[in-house]
This record gives sequence, structure tokens and C-alpha cells, in this order.
Amino acid sequence: MKKKLIFIANWKMYLNIKEEVNFSIQNYDNLIKLTKNNYSQIILAPSFISLNRINDIFKSTTLKVAAQNCSSHINGSFTGQISTVSLNQIGIEYSIIGHSETRKELNETDIDIEKKFEQLILNNIIPILCIGENEEEHKTNKTLNKLEFQTDNIIKMINKTLYNFNKPTLYIAYEPIWSIGSGKIANIDYLDNIFTWLYKRFSLIKNEVNFKLIYGGSVNSKNIEFFKTIDHIDGFLIGKSSLNFKEFEKIVELGSI
Ligand code: PGA
Repeated sequence: MKKKLIFIANWKMYLNIKEEVNFSIQNYDNLIKLTKNNYSQIILAPSFISLNRINDIFKSTTLKVAAQNCSSHINGSFTGQISTVSLNQIGIEYSIIGHSETRKELNETDIDIEKKFEQLILNNIIPILCIGENEEEHKTNKTLNKLEFQTDNIIKMINKTLYNFNKPTLYIAYEPIWSIGSGKIANIDYLDNIFTWLYKRFSLIKNEVNFKLIYGGSVNSKNIEFFKTIDHIDGFLIGKSSLNFKEFEKIVELGSI
């Protein structure tokens, strides 16, 4: 049976609120059509300020909406943060965490990201956990060490705490930092090796968690067919190329064939 692929549009802060809402309204029918082919799950990740509005636009459809981040705290004196409880209350089912841009801009540590992961699971929101190596780590063959480090405590947490919950779902988005927004992509052997390693690593806890492996970094309509050939990839996290509907549509169509 053909695998259903996941396409996540990460709009970052490229668009303002009017542009995000206009994109959703103008392309509503075509976006829904993309989810109807049964071979693709579409998730839009707009900025916080449009989240509620866009989630309302797509309410009761098969298209899903994700937050781009969340707080690691339950509530309290955390100016400027958004709790997972609030995300859950407005019906958000997914949240990106640990994106390399938030790790850098907001000085996020792996400990912060582990706490965010836990808060999301507690509030029935699927974490889209971003991991990946920088250029220096890439060049010095430290990628697997980095990925091991970034996922170790999450795996321990799943083993330790999650017996209290129904089996949760986790998306692991591997994004080589040097590839994000740069147009540079890794070769097939490199990616094959990483996705096989991730698949084996998370298969060890497959009784405790449903997991999906996502690739992100300069995905576009010209290279989607290359990425599609890599085993164990369940979907894509798409930044720049998700801003133009025609380009995004092409990626989904070529990716889902
Ligand atoms: P990009 O971004 O597609 O523009 O490289 C991907 C991401 O950062 O999630």
C-alpha cells in the first residue's frame, strides 16, 4: 500500500497576518483538494498571531494547523510565551519545537526543548521535534553524535514517563542546519545513512510511541523526487517553497505520486 506522506509548510515569519490569512482563504479549495488524494497530510504552520484564525478557517477539514513553538512552562510569569494548554484549547494538534532558528534566536537549550516536548505530550499535541547538525559538525562527521545527543533525553523521557499516557505520536524532523534556506542538499548516501539510523533508533521504542521521520532543508519542486527515493522518510518540512501556493502544490503533487 502506498504511504501517506506529510507536508508541513513552515511559514516562519515570512508573511504578515494579512498575507497568511489571504493565502489560506484564496487557496482554500486547492489546499483541501491536496489533502483529498489520500496520499498526503497537509499541515500549515503560520505565526502565532494567525494561528487561531487559520485554525478556524480549516476547522472540520482534513488540513491541520501547527504552532511554530510553545512554552516549556505550564503557566506563570513568562512574558511573551504561549502555553501548550492554550494551544490545546484552540484546537491545535501539532507544534514544531527545537527548530534551529528558535534554538539560535531564543537561546533554547536541549533541556528547554525536552520540557516543551513533555508539555505537548501532556496536552495531546504532537511534537514536531527538529534536530540537525551545523556545517562544522557535518564536515567533521559528527552528525550522528549530534542527533544522538539531541534525542537521548527525549527517548529516556518516553521510556520513563509515558506509561501514564496513551501511546503518543512524535514527528522527528531531521534538518541539516547548513541546508536550511541555503539551496544546498546532502547526497543520497548521507541521507540514507541518517534516516536508517533514525529509523532503527526510534523502532526500539515503537511500542511506546508512534513516530514519523520528516526531512527539512531546501525542499522544492525540483528536488522533491530525489528526497522521495530515500527510505524511511514519512514527510517534509518546507520553509521558503511553501510560501508560493503553486510551488507548494507542485511539491505535494510530485511527492505524493
Ligand atoms: P527551507 O526551511 O525549506 O526554507 O530550507 C525549512 C525549515 O527551516 O523548516
